[in-house]
Parts: sequence; C-alpha cells; structure tokens
Amino acid sequence: MELKGKSQAMTERFLDENYELAHLEVTPGEPGGSQSVDLPVLHGTMGPSVLDIRKLYAETGYFTYDPGYTSTASCASNITFIDGEKGILLHRGYPIEELAEKSTFLEVAYLLMEGNLPRKKDFESFVESITLHTMVNEQLHNFFQGFRRDAHPMAIMVGVVGALSAFYHDSLDIHDPKQRLIASHRLIAKMPTLAAMAYKYSMGQPFIYPRNDLGYAENFIHMLFATPAAPYKVNPVIGNALDKILILHADHEQNPSTSTVRLAGSSGANPFACVAAGIACLWGPIHGGANEAVINMLKEIGHKDRILEYIKRARDKNDPFRLMGFGHRVYKHYDPRAAVLRKTCQAVLDELGNHDDPLLKLAKELEKIALEDPYFIEKKLYPNVDFYSGIILKAIGIPTSMFTVLFAVARTVGWIAQWMEMLEDPSQKIGRPRQLYTGSTLRHFSPLSQRKD
Ligand code: ACO
Repeated sequence: MELKGKSQAMTERFLDENYELAHLEVTPGEPGGSQSVDLPVLHGTMGPSVLDIRKLYAETGYFTYDPGYTSTASCASNITFIDGEKGILLHRGYPIEELAEKSTFLEVAYLLMEGNLPRKKDFESFVESITLHTMVNEQLHNFFQGFRRDAHPMAIMVGVVGALSAFYHDSLDIHDPKQRLIASHRLIAKMPTLAAMAYKYSMGQPFIYPRNDLGYAENFIHMLFATPAAPYKVNPVIGNALDKILILHADHEQNPSTSTVRLAGSSGANPFACVAAGIACLWGPIHGGANEAVINMLKEIGHKDRILEYIKRARDKNDPFRLMGFGHRVYKHYDPRAAVLRKTCQAVLDELGNHDDPLLKLAKELEKIALEDPYFIEKKLYPNVDFYSGIILKAIGIPTSMFTVLFAVARTVGWIAQWMEMLEDPSQKIGRPRQLYTGSTLRHFSPLSQRKD
C-alpha cells in the first residue's frame, strides 16, 4: 500500500472542471458599501453544490458569518456521503446498511483509508499489520497509575492517546507517507488495548495483553472481560454485535470530532496528538457522549408512564433538558445507523435470551411517542445513532462509562482516514477561522490607583 495523494489531486481536477460562476451583489449601507463579485459554484459528485468564497474577502472586504458551520463546507472529501433529508449514508459509495450486514470492521477501515474494498492479499497484509501493532510500550502502563481509580475512562483516553506521541518517535514525521501509514495502523491497533486498560484500571484489575489469534472485536472483548485467574471464551454473538457497532461508528464526514482532528492536523501536529484532540471533542454529551446520556436518561425516566413528562420537558424552551439520542445537525430523517442498530439490538437481546429487556421496551415506547409528537415532527427530530447503541452495549456487558470510549475506538478509523486525506490535499491550509468582533473599541490603560469605582 502506498500513499501518493493521487485521489486528492483528482479531486482538485474534478472541481476545476465542474464549476460555473455565480454573480453576488452585496448592497448594504455603510461601512462596507456595495460590492459585487463573481464566485465559482463548485459541484461535487452528489449533494448540494457550494459557493467557493475563498476570494471573497480579498475581492470585497467582507467575511462570511456562520457560527456552528451550518452553511459551510470546510473541505472537499471523497470518503463519506450523507443525504440527511433521505437518511442515506455511504462510505466510499457503499451504503452503510450493506457494510454493516456483509463486511467487517477492519475491511471497512481499509475501505475508508484506502478508498476501495481490499483484494484478498492486500487485506491479509492490512490485518497482519494491525494485529502486529496491538501491544503498547510497557512503560505506558505506568501512566495509568497516575490516574485516580474513579477517573472517567474518556479522561484517561485523552491523556494516554496523546502520550503515544512520546513513545513512537519513528512515526511522527507527517511528511513521510510511510510514517503516516505506520502511525495510522498503530492508532487503529492500539486504541482497543488502551481502552481496555482504562476499564481494567477503573476496576482495579490487572491489564490483559492483546491476543493476536483473535479478531479485532473479539480481542477487544477479551481484553475487557478476561482475567488472568480463569480462561475466558468470547461469545461469538457478542463479538459480531460489537464488530457491527464499530462499523456503524467508523466515520461520519465532517462531524465535530473529525473537524477537530482536521483542524489540529492542519497545523502539522502529529497524528497521536490530533486523535487525542478528537477524543476530547467526542466526549461532549451532545456528540459522542450522548450514548451514555441516553442510558442515564432512560434510567431516570424509569417507566413508560413518565415518558410524557419528559417529552413535555424536551419541548419547554425554558428547560435545558433535551431528549438524548434524538436530533441531528444533518439528518432530518431517521438516522440509517439507528435503523440498523434498532434491528440488531432486538436480535442480540433475543440471542442472549433477554427477550424483554425493560430499557429496550422503554426506548421503543419513547421513540414511538416522540415520533408522533408535533414538536418532534415539526423540528424533524428522529433517533440518531446513540439512541439504540447504548442499549445494545449494555446488553453485551459493556459498562456505561465505556460507551463513548468504544465510539472513540471505532471513530479513530474515520479520524485517521480524514486526517490522511487532508494532508494529501494540495489545497490544504492551516485552519484559521475569522470572527465578527463585538467587543470594546480602542481605549487606553489607566493605573489601578486611578480607576473609579
Ligand atoms: N430534544 C429536544 N429539542 C431538540 C433536540 C432534542 N434532542 N434536538 C434539537 N432540538 C430542538 C432545538 O431546541 C431547536 O429548537 P429551536 O429551533 O426552537 O431553537 C431545534 O430542535 C434545532 O436544534 P439545534 O440544537 O439548533 O440543532 P443542531 O443541529 O445545532 O444540534 C444536536 C444537533 C446537537 C444533535 C441536537 O439535536 C441535540 O442536542 N440532540 C441531543 C443530543 C444527542 O443525541 N446528540 C448525539 C448526536 S449524534 C452524534 O454526535 C454521534
């Protein structure tokens, strides 16, 4: 496998050949005055076209204002496509439903990173490389001792993943494609090991070393639940369910944590530091932390008779409460990942003999009521990936505090694929947004003794 940045050069060419000019007139009162400019409208292969405003400031003296990037494409990308109105999610053109049903997490990882499904030989060498990088430097074990036992595993992950850059100096040169690739494989391989160590540390149990005879998800489960005291056999139902969950979380175009990784990487920071930044962003309760928040919310609701009370709170503008696992910046339709998880959830619970899981029953009831509620209909709020993932993770024995960590393990693949794509993009620049200044105008310093009350 060689990294050449070919696809990014092709993207540039594609965009150069697929544009037209739009004429924009800005006619405000003073101070900016009237301006007009011709801006290219760029067409991608699918999805809305974009106004290329890169020359807007130079030619008009105006910036654009878009807090939260609700109307801004921050990059061109070949990796993932979402049609939020129709509930479509494609990775490199393949529908997520097909990948979840027919592929494996490592195959999807290869697809995201390399652009195409692997041939047998390429896949074998990819799997071998990931497998051979699963152990972490023994000295990293000491880092864990510095954390309190009750630390949240995401807090530990931010620290130890960032610390990888202190150990793997031979893969920090981002200008060397071989080093980029090794760092990427190291991250994908070591994330489950570090995640399991964070869990074991919180339990006061010894760390379990990776087992290279097991598959990616199975090895992860083994490191989480085995102890040195007794043999542990991974239940294949659980292994398959986890593999599917990892596929469903692998990438989601320019979401907050991925954009964080790209922004951190745009300064030339090393990949371990960039992924640590992504983990910090993912931790937030309205991003990756929502899967944990959904379970806490369902437990708090407790009974179907209390659902309406919580729906009422979600509707109330003066109450900060939001229905966790509902709503999405891009999806104004059922999140396709939630649809796969809803089905998987029931199947896994059935296979585990837990046909009547009370949390799943409550979640389905809550979903039904919310989907018929005028507030949720009007605002197009549907279940997102986090609504059902927590229930399935809980059913397979993953503790709640580890939910977002699992998300981080899966999303590392997307972060890495997007980071590599960014570095190979000839139009890449340091990410540096501007602002609309609304503070004091010029004033002069007066000494403390002369300031009036
Ligand atoms: N419960 C109640 N009201 C909601 C919810 C919700 N879960 N989500 C959105 N709304 C309302 C907002 O109050 C807002 O109402 P308004 O127009 O009257 O002001 C409107 O719907 C639009 O919501 P915004 O917050 O403006 O939409 P945005 O795109 O900025 O936010 C987000 C999307 C953060 C996901 C939001 O829907 C939310 O907080 N959901 C709950 C948390 C959650 O499940 N996060 C996981 C997202 S998936 C992921 O990151 C992996």
